[in-house]
Amino acid sequence: MRIILLGAPGAGKGTQAQVISQHWEIPHISTGDMLRQAVKQGSALGLQVKSTMDSGVLVGDDLIMQIILDRLQQPDAQQGFLFDGFPRTLPQAQALLAAKISPDFVLDIVVPHELIIRRLTGRRVHLASGRTYHLEFNPPKVANLDDLTQEPLVHRVDDEEGTVIKRLQVYQEQTSPLIAFYQNLAPAVKYLAIDGMGEVQEVNQRILQALA
Ligand code: AP5
Ligand code: MG
Repeated sequence: MRIILLGAPGAGKGTQAQVISQHWEIPHISTGDMLRQAVKQGSALGLQVKSTMDSGVLVGDDLIMQIILDRLQQPDAQQGFLFDGFPRTLPQAQALLAAKISPDFVLDIVVPHELIIRRLTGRRVHLASGRTYHLEFNPPKVANLDDLTQEPLVHRVDDEEGTVIKRLQVYQEQTSPLIAFYQNLAPAVKYLAIDGMGEVQEVNQRILQALA
C-alpha cells in the first residue's frame, strides 16, 4: 500500500499517520520529522534547513527529493509507504512521478484554517518519534512527557501563531495545487478528501473506512 497524506499544516497528518502506518504495516515517512531530527542532531543538513523551517517556508525541492529517494532504498519501504508532508510542491510531485513512484491513495485531511491555529499553538511533540500531543485535545498521560519513553515534549518553533499563518499561506500557494494534480491521475491514483473535524478516533475511523 502506497499512501500520500495531504492536508494543511495542523490538519492532523502526523496524528493519523501513527494509526495508518500500524494498520497497513507501512513506514511513516515524514519529511518534517526527518528534517527536525537533523536539526536536533546539528548535522550539516540540519544547519542548512533550520532557519528556513523556523520561518515557516519550504526547503528546496532538490534537497527533499534526495532525502526521499534515499529513504525509499531502505528495506522497510519496499512493500509500501505512508508519506506525510511530502510531496509539497508541483515539482516534488512531478519528480516522484518521473522516478516511477506512484501512490495508490492520496488522502487529503480537510480542516478549516481557524481551527488549525488552535490545534498548532497547543501542540507538543516528542522529537525522537514524531508522536504528537495537544495540551487540550490530546494530552499526554503525564504533563509534558511522552507516553512511551517519558522523555520531555517540545513546542515547535514554527507553531508560534504568526508563523502558523505564514505556513497556511505557503500551503495555499504551493501545496494546494497538488489536489488537482492527483485528481487528474485518476483512476490509477485515488484521491479522497477526508473530513478532519471531530475527535482523533472519529477521523481515524473515516480514514480506515475510506481505505477499506
Ligand atoms: P511538517 O512537519 O510537515 O509540518 P506541516 O505540514 O506544517 O504539518 P504539521 O506537522 O504542522 O501538522 P500535521 O498535519 O502533522 O498535524 P498534527 O497531526 O501534528 O513541516 C515542517 C517544515 O519542514 C515545513 O514548514 C518546511 O519548512 C519543511 N518541510 C517538510 N516537508 C517538506 C517538503 N516536502 N518540502 C519542503 N519543505 C518541507 O496535529 C496538529 C495538532 O492538532 C496536534 O497538537 C494534535 O494533537 C492535534 N490534533 C490532531 N487531530 C486532532 C483532532 N481530530 N481533534 C483535535 N486535535 C487534533
Ligand atoms: Mg506533522
